[in-house]
Amino acid sequence: MSHILTEAEMAVQKEYIEKIRNIVESDKSCGKRRNACVVTYGCQQNEADSERIAGMLNAMGYSIVDKEADADLIIVNTCAVRDHAEKRALSITGGYNHLKAVNPDLIIGIGGCMVSQPAMSDKVKHSYPYIDFVFGTEKIYMVPEIIYTVISKDKRVFSANSGDAVVAEDIPVVRESNFKAWVSIMYGCNNFCTYCIVPYVRGRERSRRPEAIINEVQELVNEGYKEITLLGQNVNSYGKEFGDECDFADLLERICKIDGDYIIRFMTSHPKDASKKLIDVMAKEKHVAKHFHLPIQSGSDRLLKEMNRHYTLDQYLSLIDYMRSKMPDISISTDIIVGFPGETEEDFDDTLKVLEKVKYDMLFSFIYSKRDGTPAAKMDNQIEDSVKSERFSRLIKAQEVYAEENNKADVGKTLRVLCEGESKTNKDKLTGRTEGNKIVLFDGDISNKGKFVNIKITEGAAFALYGNIVE
Ligand code: 5AD
Ligand code: SF4
Repeated sequence: MSHILTEAEMAVQKEYIEKIRNIVESDKSCGKRRNACVVTYGCQQNEADSERIAGMLNAMGYSIVDKEADADLIIVNTCAVRDHAEKRALSITGGYNHLKAVNPDLIIGIGGCMVSQPAMSDKVKHSYPYIDFVFGTEKIYMVPEIIYTVISKDKRVFSANSGDAVVAEDIPVVRESNFKAWVSIMYGCNNFCTYCIVPYVRGRERSRRPEAIINEVQELVNEGYKEITLLGQNVNSYGKEFGDECDFADLLERICKIDGDYIIRFMTSHPKDASKKLIDVMAKEKHVAKHFHLPIQSGSDRLLKEMNRHYTLDQYLSLIDYMRSKMPDISISTDIIVGFPGETEEDFDDTLKVLEKVKYDMLFSFIYSKRDGTPAAKMDNQIEDSVKSERFSRLIKAQEVYAEENNKADVGKTLRVLCEGESKTNKDKLTGRTEGNKIVLFDGDISNKGKFVNIKITEGAAFALYGNIVE
């Protein structure tokens, strides 16, 4: 059962924030620097969580900085979806040991998916003595209490998840951007896809109340935010605990009643739950960006079953057909895993055929990574690394052709683009994304950052569009 934390429960954490603020302010008045840095790995949900963590640290009186070396408190928000994300987080954190030698006041904490399971939290406790605290994804709201214990009692704290499906409202936030915002609408996952660690580290599915979400979006629109992305591991099962009161399509429709100049995105969808009702709402609401991210994972019905995905290729394709019949210009992206245990050349060929059939605009492809504790990790027909990499390259190569084809078809169109500022890869150009979430590079003044501009597309390559601003 999920539990929306009461105002009284949240007030306890606010008191800890105040207590820490007193300590931090008194340290500062003695000339001590009090900076905090939040380092984030993984998905958008983690980015959203980190903005709340930064919000709490800011309320405690810390100044938020970008560089770990400038910080007196470092929090690493970790990912566990694939092995290399875990290894990277551990090795980076390992490097912080020497920062403690330079700054004995430095406090280091690790949060997020990697340390949500008690076994991993214990490993950190015993193998990383310079880590002061650990908190699981369900304990984020308790960060003030944890930090207070570390500071005032000089104690290490290890708070892995314990199965509390909590929803915490009113946590302060410091957002990275002043025109793009994440809004979590639900937490956790109940699907147990056999390869995936998420249900074990993010706990059971639970939704925020629709009023709380609508209020947050309204505030963002009032503040001038232009792009708001609704987040959940499986947004299509939003609101199940509210009965018929408000499903995801209803929520989207209610949000779109907010007046203003903004677009709404959402992710991630699960093909077994994505409904025609949702597609109908998308088609009629001008605020909803015409982009659908619908992870297929594999084109083989046999593997979809092994993955516990609960849909067939035909069911998936009929959803895509329905989307395109309602929104002919919709852009579609997907996630695919290569090298799932037992994947044969025929299975992989079925996946390649889906690319040819759907002609996705964007593909996020992943090499299967064995996650301890998941059913797929115990399957005895694991695929050799060399086979996985070879299939991965073939998949990417195949997709490049379709992406380029799609992007070339945009040449000559004028598309509305939210300008995100200077391109990181091409400093002379500005960058932004179309409603369909495609990257566009164009010339223009930096004052366009955070604004919608109309771009006439002049060139389409596999990974980006190019164009010019038009009135
Ligand atoms: N190995 C590789 N990719 C994975 N994903 C989830 N778990 C694994 C894993 N064990 C991918 C899925 C999911 C995306 C966010 O990450 O494609 O949709
Ligand atoms: Fe993982 Fe499947 Fe849940 Fe997505 S739906 S988070 S892939 S278990």
